[in-house]
Amino acid sequence: MSKEALLKLEDKELSFPIIEGTENEKAIDLRTLRAQTGYITFDEGFGNTGSCQSEITFINGEKGILRYRGYPIEQIAEKSTFIDSAHLIIYGELPTEEQRTRFLVDLIKTCNIDTRMVRQFEAFPPSAHPMSILTSMMGSLSSYYPELSTNDRVLDLENFDRSAASAISKVMTVAAMSHRIANGLPINYPKKDLTYAENFLHLMFSSPNDEYVAPKEVSEALDLILLLHADHEQNCSTSTVRMVGSSGANLFASITAGVCALWGPLHGGANMGVIKMLEAIHAEGDDGSRFIEEAKSGNSGKRLMGFGHRVYKNFDPRAKIIGQACERLLDALGTKDPCLDIARNLEQAALNDEYFIKRNLYPNVDFYSGIMMRAIGIPLDMFTVMFAIGRMPGWVANWHEVASQPKGKINRPRQVFQGPNERDLPADYNQR
Ligand code: CMC
Repeated sequence: MSKEALLKLEDKELSFPIIEGTENEKAIDLRTLRAQTGYITFDEGFGNTGSCQSEITFINGEKGILRYRGYPIEQIAEKSTFIDSAHLIIYGELPTEEQRTRFLVDLIKTCNIDTRMVRQFEAFPPSAHPMSILTSMMGSLSSYYPELSTNDRVLDLENFDRSAASAISKVMTVAAMSHRIANGLPINYPKKDLTYAENFLHLMFSSPNDEYVAPKEVSEALDLILLLHADHEQNCSTSTVRMVGSSGANLFASITAGVCALWGPLHGGANMGVIKMLEAIHAEGDDGSRFIEEAKSGNSGKRLMGFGHRVYKNFDPRAKIIGQACERLLDALGTKDPCLDIARNLEQAALNDEYFIKRNLYPNVDFYSGIMMRAIGIPLDMFTVMFAIGRMPGWVANWHEVASQPKGKINRPRQVFQGPNERDLPADYNQR
């Protein structure tokens, strides 16, 4: 098969090389297109654009495949943990016993935050959204830990192990502190004998005179939620991290931008959107069928939140795993949540509806994660924060991949300008 693509443009015929990925994905290498022709490609939303070559995560949206560094998500979800997956995603391999111990020690060493930073929480108005607080606090890490965020690529890479551990451990501390302080509760600090998920639950729910000990099924469910969110290839927030990192910006600056990108309702904000949608359907006494009709009409401005994905066109493997885990968790806790019944109705109705079938719309990871988080006791406005905690290893790994390319280029797309042509200021215009 020819390893080039031919392009006929005006009176020229040009050839461009084909790049092939390890999973036989093919891309036309258009890096010289503009230099050769003066043309650029136009691909609004980047649905057909490969922005990088990456070794971290593989997705095949047609077949519903997701792999971290080659390992299928189903196997990882069954046998691994969030922290081992984080190590895998960041360093390329599951940790040995010794590497795991070192990684856990690094996480514990870096999990506290500067006490002056703790005082910063008090400056936020009580109504501040936890995602807004998280963006500010993650951005502040560069102020309090300047040695880990120099914007000198060589130094930032030398300190990478510590800054990576700091990002993963401090995001958990900051997230829980924002909840405690906003609710007038005393703050807790992580403990070295707890797992990552157990620690987060302790930070959120322990009080000085009543320590919260997470039931196994709860901490395991949370670990699974985090693990399933740990990386997802070139999604909006990860692409943002890479974009910012490509300018030479340090890890903390780049992941802060990722948190901002995640906040939107079409991305990480969808997990809150799902619960709000399910609650509204419940409050209206609908079993979901009225809502489905509205979501299909296109005029209502409503979408079936937790459905659809830019890449998955068959099923989202994370949704399959999380749907089953949700059922297990609610059973184990003896929780009866009417939202779960509505979600099941919506899923069945949508999967059998021509509108959703034609557009390849299936449940995504957010469809059931909110019901699980609610059963665990996590407040609704923190759902997207939980996504950010889970996605941290992916952001860190992608930043590292960008930062360690010796000939990396700054990301700088072009545009097709559709504004006014050159014109002169009005003759009678004199502002000064
Ligand atoms: N409900 C109803 N219609 C939908 C939905 C939905 N959830 N998603 C897409 N469509 C329709 C859309 O109206 C369009 O119809 P038409 O062709 O008639 O104009 C068609 O499907 C294609 O939609 P699109 O917006 O062009 O597709 P996209 O690939 O740009 O968007 C998406 C993907 C995830 C943003 C979108 O499916 C969506 O808004 N879903 C709901 C929000 C959501 O659950 N987001 C979480 C995504 S998974 C976690 C993450 O990675 O953040």
